[in-house]
Amino acid sequence: MTTLRSLFVFLAATLVTAIATAQDSPAPASGTYVPTVLVTGANQGIGLEFARQYAARGARVIATARNPAAATDLNALAAANPRVTVEQLDVTDHAAIDALAAKYAGTAIDLLINNAGISGGAENQVFGKLQYQAFEEVLRVNTIGPLKMAEAFMPHVQASRERRIVAVSSSEGSIGKVNSARLYFYRTSKAALNMEMKVLAYQVKSKGVSVGLVNPGMTDTDLMKGLPKSMLRPPADAVRDMMRNIDTLTVENTASYWEHDGQIMPW
Ligand SMILES: NC(=O)c1ccc[n+]([C@@H]2O[C@H](COP(=O)([O-])OP(=O)(O)OC[C@H]3O[C@@H](n4cnc5c(N)ncnc54)[C@H](OP(=O)(O)O)[C@@H]3O)[C@@H](O)[C@H]2O)c1
Repeated sequence: MTTLRSLFVFLAATLVTAIATAQDSPAPASGTYVPTVLVTGANQGIGLEFARQYAARGARVIATARNPAAATDLNALAAANPRVTVEQLDVTDHAAIDALAAKYAGTAIDLLINNAGISGGAENQVFGKLQYQAFEEVLRVNTIGPLKMAEAFMPHVQASRERRIVAVSSSEGSIGKVNSARLYFYRTSKAALNMEMKVLAYQVKSKGVSVGLVNPGMTDTDLMKGLPKSMLRPPADAVRDMMRNIDTLTVENTASYWEHDGQIMPW
């Protein structure tokens, strides 16, 4: 039954995507279910691209940004698309997360994407000169923020039809893949993110909520500034791939950790 439901959701999503490709900003047909997606860190990079692509599919998007006044591209997207709403949110501010959840009380959120993340700066993560304040900040943004978001928005997700929570992880969070000494803070924060999302997956499975982790692969955003462009993929490709994986997320495969090509990553 659940497999049939997943197939239906996948086919419906594919159909909506096809329509979105044909029309820039399609109005959903009357009677069509319009899912709601909440994305953190949506002012630039991967988060902005999630907002763009879900909006192009016809979803309602609640796009959060630390500093909406400076979020030029996101504001332009929202101005061109009435289904995109910009909200101010710093994911380290738990009172602000609770306030946003209260503002949206009664709104079903089909997909919560914990995307906001920081690297902590490679220069702060050199053994012998480790900058522990930077470590604390990385944990607050990359690890604690997503769990607090999931906790605060669980009623909204549970009330929705698709009931999905996704965190943007990284191959750097895979303990099994570590074979070099670098990025202590970032790697630790993403490994801990993976663990807490896996625990959460089992916490909420019986409520019909599924939880997944997606790896965008090396993507051309500010986070990768300085790396040769030839090593990086455009955000549009990374997001398209992650969305394909997210579309398959159900309670049956909850706690999956996906590489962008759909392979399962080693923990
Ligand atoms: N790019 C890659 O190759 C790659 C690979 C693996 C995983 N990832 C993950 O992908 C996610 C998105 O990163 P990106 O590549 O798109 O980098 P990015 O362009 O630097 O974007 C990071 C986003 O996170 C936001 N953010 C940072 N601290 C925040 C806070 N305290 N509260 C709310 N938002 C905050 C940033 O907002 P501001 O603009 O206000 O700073 C920005 O919107 C991250 O979780 C990252 O770890 C990226």
